Amino acid sequence: MPLVAGVDTSTQSCKIVVRDAETGALVRTGSAKHPDGTEVDPRHWWDAFQEAAAAAGGLADVAALAVGGQQHGMVALDAEGNVVRDALLWNDTRSAAAAEELITELGDGDRDAGAQAWADAVGSVLVASLTVTKLRWLRDNEPENAARVAAVALPHDWLSWRIAGYGPAGDPTAPLGPQLDALFTDRSDASGTGYYDAASGQYRPDLLERALGRTDVVLPRVVGPAEAGAVAHPDVAGSAVGGGALIGPGAGDNAGASLGLGMTPGDIAISIGTSGVVSAVAPERTADGSGAINGFADATGNALMLAVTLNAARVLDAAREVLDVDFDELAELALQAPPGSDGLVLVPYLEGERTPNRPDATGTLHGIRLATSTRPHLARAYIEGMLSGLADGLDALRAQGVAVERVMLIGGAAQSPAVQQIAPQVFGLPIGIPEPGEYVADGAARQAAWTLAAASDAGADAPAWSTTIATTLPADPRPVIREQYAAVRDLV
Ligand code: XUL
Repeated sequence: MPLVAGVDTSTQSCKIVVRDAETGALVRTGSAKHPDGTEVDPRHWWDAFQEAAAAAGGLADVAALAVGGQQHGMVALDAEGNVVRDALLWNDTRSAAAAEELITELGDGDRDAGAQAWADAVGSVLVASLTVTKLRWLRDNEPENAARVAAVALPHDWLSWRIAGYGPAGDPTAPLGPQLDALFTDRSDASGTGYYDAASGQYRPDLLERALGRTDVVLPRVVGPAEAGAVAHPDVAGSAVGGGALIGPGAGDNAGASLGLGMTPGDIAISIGTSGVVSAVAPERTADGSGAINGFADATGNALMLAVTLNAARVLDAAREVLDVDFDELAELALQAPPGSDGLVLVPYLEGERTPNRPDATGTLHGIRLATSTRPHLARAYIEGMLSGLADGLDALRAQGVAVERVMLIGGAAQSPAVQQIAPQVFGLPIGIPEPGEYVADGAARQAAWTLAAASDAGADAPAWSTTIATTLPADPRPVIREQYAAVRDLV
């Protein structure tokens, strides 16, 4: 009964699940926190990984592992394997102006043409999250650091490299030293850099050069969906297993979650977390020049199309703050008001918005009358507004021709009775709520099991571990909610 481990090196923490490779049964878990902030020394991710592995009872007995992680973060290494500066993460917005410059430059001064050119080239119109914009920022703001860059990796690539035993010269936990050409990544995470085209499977050194001004930089080798990138150093994992522990390709977190949920074309996941993510697996990516949809890759060879909103769980937090209630009380209040909240509509751009692209927008509350000046109406308007923003993301996916056959709602807020009642009204579709789980770490574990199977049978499929849908909510369309929302959404 071989064991495998899945790692999620996320923005907030490192989580590890150890599972039975054949059945997927959960055997052990561990986790450790990451520091806050939008720039972080990756050393903290290594420390948290080791702490989480110890909390999970060690990894000596795993035959394979894989790492899923926060997308886009810029881990720039010098020739000695040290980071040239703290990693800039996906939620660091200092490169917003660099993104705009790069867009306009690629369109020879025409922003719309440039936006479409980026979407055609790499599947996404640039925003500050994407790695390529951070490299342009580095070139212009820290030229000495930019000159020292010898390799650029992403958080999950860097952690896989450390697990294999590589790392900064002289570091006792990196016995294999700073071998930069041993770095590897996968299609899904590479597709979020802005200099990799998942449609052709090729890096775009011309786009890297446009951002950083150089091409003499090592980029991680992109390995296939179930291809081992390396073997773990026995001090880290696999010392009790003959041949050691294989390290799978890993994945960006959204692709990891999609693998953990077992998504195939036609499946949609709506995740209500710090950001709201509406994702779909599709056979091929499109090139949405409006920027609403990112055409990333998934972890199985398909495309992963994403709409990312900035206003999701935090909108519910804001409602709790305004109404001075807890999570359950907010749901109770909201369910006392009728669908459409008698015309009270919140447009929830509380922190600007990414989809639609309105970085400087604020939220607005429309339709306040004496009759709607009640706590239940307000509670319901916050929830309906947040879900309507996500429904706009789903429409943007549909507009790209994405098939919508099965919708799953995930994230902590999906457990709210009010969200569960209102979501089928806003989306007008049946909605499945999977068992709560660590979908990214689970997806990484499933990939590790797949990598293990593929090592002895190249044609092996991903193991058929099933995701349990705990609740299926029937469709309950109430068009009034989205009609009211659409009437005021653009008045911001
Ligand atoms: C996707 C994105 C986020 C991060 C969060 O484009 O920016 O979902 O991957 O970790």
